Amino acid sequence: MPSSDLLIRYGGNLPRYTSYPTAAQFDASVGADDSEAWLRAMAPGTPLSLYLHVPFCDALCLFCGCNTSVMRDPAGRTAYGALLMDELRRVAGRLGPDHPVRHVQWGGGTPTTLPPETMRAAMQTIRRLFTIERDAEIAIELDPRHMPDAYPDLLRTLGFNRVSLGVQDLDPAVQTACGRIQSRAQTEDCVRRVRAAGIASVNVDLIYGLPYQTVDGAGETAATVAAALRPDRLAVFGYAHVPWKQKRQALLPESVLPGPAERLAQRARIDAVLRAAGYRAIGLDHYARPGDALTLAAEGGTMRRNFQGYTVDPAPVLIGIGASAISSYPQGMTQNALTAAAYARLMGQGTDTLPVVRGVRRTDDDRLRGAVIERLMCDLRVDPAAIGAHHGVPATWFADAMPGLHQAAADGIVTLDGAMIRMTDAGRPFLRNIAALFDAHRAPPGAARHAGAL
Ligand SMILES: C[S@@+](CC[C@H](N)C(=O)[O-])C[C@H]1O[C@@H](n2cnc3c(N)ncnc32)[C@H](O)[C@@H]1O
Repeated sequence: MPSSDLLIRYGGNLPRYTSYPTAAQFDASVGADDSEAWLRAMAPGTPLSLYLHVPFCDALCLFCGCNTSVMRDPAGRTAYGALLMDELRRVAGRLGPDHPVRHVQWGGGTPTTLPPETMRAAMQTIRRLFTIERDAEIAIELDPRHMPDAYPDLLRTLGFNRVSLGVQDLDPAVQTACGRIQSRAQTEDCVRRVRAAGIASVNVDLIYGLPYQTVDGAGETAATVAAALRPDRLAVFGYAHVPWKQKRQALLPESVLPGPAERLAQRARIDAVLRAAGYRAIGLDHYARPGDALTLAAEGGTMRRNFQGYTVDPAPVLIGIGASAISSYPQGMTQNALTAAAYARLMGQGTDTLPVVRGVRRTDDDRLRGAVIERLMCDLRVDPAAIGAHHGVPATWFADAMPGLHQAAADGIVTLDGAMIRMTDAGRPFLRNIAALFDAHRAPPGAARHAGAL
């Protein structure tokens, strides 16, 4: 267990570095005109990936940090689906032909809140407008408590081959505090139904650091999930408490939120349980079976990091469709209007406008630092000087990071071997702290813009 000094030194507010620059750098100086230009600049044949965001849930979980809302009216859900299809058409109209798509991801919220016929029409629209490769990964997030009867077979028919289920923690006391009651039977039933329908890959999300969570409880959840569900992959997130951004989190009982040392111990227990169950630890917070494509990519140094987390997707362009969805291009990133209402309003302002409200342009320095941070987050090691040389800058470019790196080496978090930085096993929980040393946009210490690092 690291000393309390260490927990203080490495406990600041940090981004998860799913992109660099991070979303904290987005502003309104980038907008629909930039999307327009960046879409039109894509050379024929450039592969792209699609992300579709459905912000609706059947009920809101108090811990959730995502842009979500409850939409009970089926007509509202159908109307939102129609907007997604319209935005797909507007995007495709700006692209030249021949862009292979290898990854389609539906996230939220809970995308299965779309009526089945709307989901079917949306997938047909995607296949009509884009060239989906035969072995493309088509994935969707599911809420095991609310999976409509028709959905497992529908997903298989539409070509989905990966699902991600939110489980978080199985302890009833934790679930009650979080406003998300989900029995083990419900979760098992959901996995059984998707597997019976022929969907091969199942991912599970767990969270540590929730109210009333304990080391033993978190370990038991991980052991039960590994044994009973046998997921192909797991994501193990540290609960991000950002009540200044996500008001519903203020309803959680803060006095029973585990502190940094307890969170670290919970994380360590889950890690030990999952490794003992045969999973490989990947990047900051993922686990996968030894033969899984993500494991192979992680071991081969080809894994990537994007807004959905770790991925095997190498496409240089990710196009986000729907409210709050983020797109990433070589030139920069853009984000759509954040709420469903604002998104609908912008889509309604013209028949061919793009619903983008903000973003960021990448400078050459952003591209270089982004490459260093991505390799570190994926490989747990990086040679910044080698990447710098590739980008035509001298080794002194990252001199600012050196004092922090030497301190981290003294703390046993990294080893330094020439220019090569390697995270130690004990240092893996502090990966974001090391990435932050290369972040030139970092907010001044104390600025509460991200969740605590631990
Ligand atoms: C976008 S949510 C969708 C989950 C899905 N709709 C469900 O209900 O199971 C994806 C995952 O984000 C994670 N997540 C959401 N809020 C979080 C927070 N504040 N801190 C850490 N992880 C969070 C949860 O593990 C969740 O399963």
